[in-house]
Amino acid sequence: MDQTFTRRRFLKAAGIGLAATTVACIGGGYVATLAPESAVVNLTFAKESTMSRRILVTYATRAGSTAEIAAAIARTLSDRGFAVDVKPIKAQPEIAGYDAIIVGSAIRMGHWLPEAVDFVKVNQAVLSDVPVALFTVHMLNTGDDETSRANRAAYLNTVRPLVNPVAEAYFAGAMNFARLSFLDRLIARMVGAVEEDRRDWTAIETWAEEVLVAA
Ligand SMILES: Cc1cc2nc3c(=O)[nH]c(=O)nc-3n(C[C@H](O)[C@H](O)[C@H](O)COP(=O)(O)O)c2cc1C
Repeated sequence: MDQTFTRRRFLKAAGIGLAATTVACIGGGYVATLAPESAVVNLTFAKESTMSRRILVTYATRAGSTAEIAAAIARTLSDRGFAVDVKPIKAQPEIAGYDAIIVGSAIRMGHWLPEAVDFVKVNQAVLSDVPVALFTVHMLNTGDDETSRANRAAYLNTVRPLVNPVAEAYFAGAMNFARLSFLDRLIARMVGAVEEDRRDWTAIETWAEEVLVAA
């Protein structure tokens, strides 16, 4: 996605897109807001030893790129000797009994997905008892300049104070029109987004190699 796209353009496009969806809904077009079946990743990397420390990697996605990043993080953690479960937040995973929890979300309209924010709020008590790391997947504000850094840090303004994370990461994501709902595709096209995959698997694995070292 062209870095000149701004959140304001996304929001403006969303407003127009929502109006279009309202019209579509009147015509029974509720399907406009549904994403095509995106990659839902539900994995377990179990270690032979029952002594292995257990980590949950749970994520919220619309088009699957965050799910694939969650899987890559889990694979690296598994190589480090952890027993790891990867579960979508939408499946409301049981979170008791883990030694650490990693929560990730895609960004839509400048915010974590609502189910991810709700997950943190609802489970705040359990999450405050274990080390928690957060990752965010987005397309804007990926630069090394101060403004980009501040803007992406703001994506966590709602959830950061609730869990006091031991680590937070920001990963460039992907835009795959075939995986977007009608509405999201409309918004993406209106802001001039292009199909691209900017995920940096080395950066993702490097983070997973270092995160939760004390867990
Ligand atoms: C409708 C729409 C709105 C988006 N809004 C933002 C945004 O405000 N800021 C941003 O950095 N990325 C935004 N993105 C980019 C997504 O965060 C990025 O494509 C991410 O990889 C999507 O994750 P997912 O495939 O797990 O759903 C938006 C994408 C779409 C389709």
